[in-house]
Amino acid sequence: MCASAWPITLLLLFGLATSSPVSTPAPPLPVQILPPSPSPTILPSPPSPPLSVLAHFSGESEKEASCRLMISPSTLVVRFGDPFTANCSAQSINYGGLGWEISLETSGLSQDNFVILTVDNMTKWSITATCYALTNEGGSCDIKLPLIVYKPPDNVSISLINHTGPMYEGRQYTLQCTVQGVAPVGNLIVTFYRGQTILGQLQSNNTTEKEPVTEIFTLNITPSKEDNGIQYWCEAKLELGPEGPQPPPVLMSQKLITVVLFGPHLVCPTKLLVREGQSLSCEVRGNPQPEVLWFRDGQAVALPTHSSRKDAGKYTAVTKGHLGLKNFTVDVEVLAGSGTANSCNRHLLAFLLIYLISWL
Ligand SMILES: *[C@@H]1O[C@H](CO)[C@@H](O)[C@H](O)[C@H]1NC(C)=O
Ligand SMILES: *[C@@H]1O[C@H](CO)[C@@H](O)[C@H](O)[C@H]1NC(C)=O
Ligand SMILES: *[C@@H]1O[C@H](CO)[C@@H](O)[C@H](O)[C@H]1NC(C)=O
Ligand SMILES: *[C@@H]1O[C@H](CO)[C@@H](O)[C@H](O)[C@H]1NC(C)=O
Ligand SMILES: *[C@@H]1O[C@H](CO)[C@@H](O)[C@H](O)[C@H]1NC(C)=O
Ligand SMILES: *[C@@H]1O[C@H](CO)[C@@H](O)[C@H](O)[C@H]1NC(C)=O
Ligand SMILES: *[C@@H]1O[C@H](CO)[C@@H](O)[C@H](O)[C@H]1NC(C)=O
Repeated sequence: MCASAWPITLLLLFGLATSSPVSTPAPPLPVQILPPSPSPTILPSPPSPPLSVLAHFSGESEKEASCRLMISPSTLVVRFGDPFTANCSAQSINYGGLGWEISLETSGLSQDNFVILTVDNMTKWSITATCYALTNEGGSCDIKLPLIVYKPPDNVSISLINHTGPMYEGRQYTLQCTVQGVAPVGNLIVTFYRGQTILGQLQSNNTTEKEPVTEIFTLNITPSKEDNGIQYWCEAKLELGPEGPQPPPVLMSQKLITVVLFGPHLVCPTKLLVREGQSLSCEVRGNPQPEVLWFRDGQAVALPTHSSRKDAGKYTAVTKGHLGLKNFTVDVEVLAGSGTANSCNRHLLAFLLIYLISWL
């Protein structure tokens, strides 16, 4: 790791106790130690903690138990390129000094009961930040600052794998949602939509990757005729927890408008009841719109617009759709004249009227 490329500024706030004269060299991290507010002069860097102290850092549990340090915020979620600050404070004043250790490089010690870490521009994807304290008894303890560096995706796009043009109903296709340049990919939730309906949610399995990556999420679909003209799209959401930005960053893909070739389908029942005088209507639908010819007893016929008893019988629709020829047979039964149906309705109306009047 190139220390000089790490634009980190460490701001140590000193209390009344002034730091002891410096004998050890400045820490390797290019930190700036700002002077305490009453003094306009720049103080020499405070000492690095002795190496023996650093050796304790990997944390002996009984020491951690007595480590009364607190970092605010408790979890830091920072967007790449953004500034941040964190305040580490000691709950008790029985500490010989407080300091920060960033990616194994240590700052100097503060004699106050808190120490501030300030970064102007987060330009690293993965750092560890630890606040440490030297106890008056000669020991040390530390507390790690959980840190998430994030970047919303550059681009989210949806497409069909190995397919362009219209789809056929009943066949399986694979949607792919490509999310470009997102970090950390482990916090990404990808949702596939059909119109406003959620089809599925996917998450990356890569929880270790900290730098921006491009990941492709896939979902199988089997379109039906209802999917013709429907929009498919996906959405990428970075779920960074309660300490992260609210609402979480969300990016939508473009809309994929599907053309589904289907049919021909018979819209009417294959046993069709028609009343005398009514038209015999039976639609055949498809995409593309199929050609339809009706046959009765081997003769091409037009469906009757005023059915009579003699129109009852078997009708065959010979259709030509995108998959070729297909026949449908419809059994038509013609019921007695419309008068019957109307008188039935009249009875119902009369009943309702009497019912209403009895209410008034
Ligand atoms: C942060 O650093 C990056 C890379 O060095 C730079 O491109 C960007 O402009 C900086 N942002 C700010 C706010 O200084
Ligand atoms: C850091 O935290 C301590 C303890 O909560 C507080 O006294 C101090 O004012 C804080 N410093 C800053 C700069 O927020
Ligand atoms: C996003 O990606 C798609 C497909 O690769 C591309 O057509 C589109 O231009 C990209 N958009 C942006 C803003 O980069
Ligand atoms: C897409 O088609 C290519 C060439 O036919 C094939 O090599 C590849 O495996 C296909 N990809 C998927 C995901 O089916
Ligand atoms: C994650 O792993 C599970 C189980 O191995 C798998 O079913 C799922 O497709 C994976 N997710 C991605 C985005 O690769
Ligand atoms: C995570 O992604 C990185 C980079 O794309 C890759 O090297 C690593 O193998 C992935 N890990 C898992 C568990 O998929
Ligand atoms: C469809 O009906 C037509 C006309 O009745 C007939 O000539 C043809 O053989 C039928 N085709 C099939 C596949 O049943």
